[in-house]
Amino acid sequence: MRFAERMGRITSSASFDMLARGKALEAKGRSIVQLGIGEPDFDTPAHIRRAAENALAEGYTHYGPPAGLPEFRALIAKTWRARRGLACEAANVVVTPGAKPVLFFAMLATLEPGDEVLIPSPAFPTYASVAEFVGARAVPVPLAAERGFDVDLGALKSRLTSRSRMLVLNSPHNPTGAVLPRSTLEALAALALERDLIVLSDEIYAGMVYEGESPSIATLPGMAERTVVVDGFSKTYAMTGWRLGFGVMPEPLARHMATLMNNSNSCTATFVQKAGEAALTGPQDEVVKMVDEFRARRALMVDGLAAIPGVTCTRPSGAFYVFPRVSRPGLTSVELADQLLEQAGLVTLPGTGFGAESEGHLRLSYANSRANLSEGLKRLAGALAPGTRAGSPKR
Ligand SMILES: Cc1ncc(COP(=O)(O)O)c(C=O)c1O
Repeated sequence: MRFAERMGRITSSASFDMLARGKALEAKGRSIVQLGIGEPDFDTPAHIRRAAENALAEGYTHYGPPAGLPEFRALIAKTWRARRGLACEAANVVVTPGAKPVLFFAMLATLEPGDEVLIPSPAFPTYASVAEFVGARAVPVPLAAERGFDVDLGALKSRLTSRSRMLVLNSPHNPTGAVLPRSTLEALAALALERDLIVLSDEIYAGMVYEGESPSIATLPGMAERTVVVDGFSKTYAMTGWRLGFGVMPEPLARHMATLMNNSNSCTATFVQKAGEAALTGPQDEVVKMVDEFRARRALMVDGLAAIPGVTCTRPSGAFYVFPRVSRPGLTSVELADQLLEQAGLVTLPGTGFGAESEGHLRLSYANSRANLSEGLKRLAGALAPGTRAGSPKR
C-alpha cells in the first residue's frame, strides 16, 4: 500500500509508546513504576458512572447532533460562564470525543498551507504534529525556563512573520505545570489583536491549580472573537477513557467544527454526554479531594527531586507534571529515559518528546499513588547515583 505524503508529517506521542513498553515489561514479570502517562489514577466518581448506566437504560444509545446534545451544550456554556468567566452561549460550544479533536478540527478549519503556528515550547506534541499534518508550519518559541516557563514575549515577537496565523497557549501547562500570569495573557492578547492571530487556548488542566488563579485569555477584551478554548472532562473528572471534551469558540467556527464532526465521528456518544451532565451538575467534592491529593503529591515530588544531586526542578502551579532538569553527562534525554525504563523499571518521558529545546529534561507525572511516587523517586535517585550503574533491574 502506498501512503499519502501527509502521513510523513504526523507523529505519535511518546507517552502512549512508553506506556506500552512499560506494560510489556510488566507482562514479563518486571516491577514497573509508570510516571509517564498523564492520566488520573482515580476512578471516575460513582455518581457519574451511574448517570451513564441510567442513560443507557433510558435509551441514550442513538446518534445525537454532531455538535453535541443541545441541553449539554447549554449546560457547558452556563457552567463555563460561571467558572471561567467566558462570554459564551450554547452555539459557541462543540462537544467532541475527548479534547484532542477540538485542536485537530480547529487547525483543520482555519489553517492554510504555509501558515505559521507559534507554539511556546516545550509543548504537548500534538500541536506541532497536527499543525504540520494540515500543511501549516509549526514554529516553536522557547519558553523562559528561568522565569518558571513563562512565555518569552521577546522570543515570540522575533518569530512573527506575515504568515503567522495562530498562537497556541496551554495553561496550566503540559509538560511543565506552569500557569501563565494574567499580565502575560494581557500582553499576548494585545499581540494577537495587533497581528490578527487566532489563539488556541488549551485549558484542559484549568481544574487543577494549586495556588493563585489560571485565567482564560478568552475573557480579555476582544479575545472571545478570536479564541478557541480547548477543554474537557478527561483530567478534572478522571474520565480519560470516556472520551469527552469540548471547545468554546466563535459561532462561525463552531458551525464548521460541527461539519467536521458530522464527517468524522458523527457525534460524541450520547450516554457519555449524559454522564458529563452529571459531572457538571452533581457534587464537586470528589474533584476537590483529587486536587488536594495532587497538591500533596506535588510537594512529595518537588521535595523528593530536590534531594537528588544533579536534579533541579521548578515548583509547578498546576496540572500534574514536573519537568526537572536531570544532568547525566553523555546521555540524551531519550537514552536516559530508555535506561531508566530498562534498568530501573521506571517510566518517564524524555524532555525532547516535547521539543528539541528540552534536552536534559524528563517529564514525570504525579498522577500516581504516593507509594508509587516514592518508589519512583527511589529508583531515579538510585539510577543517578554517582558511580553506580543505572539502577539494577527489580523483579
Ligand atoms: C495539554 C493537553 N491537551 C489535550 C489533551 C488531550 O485530552 P483528551 O484526552 O481529553 O483528548 C492532553 C492529554 O494529555 C493534554 O495534556
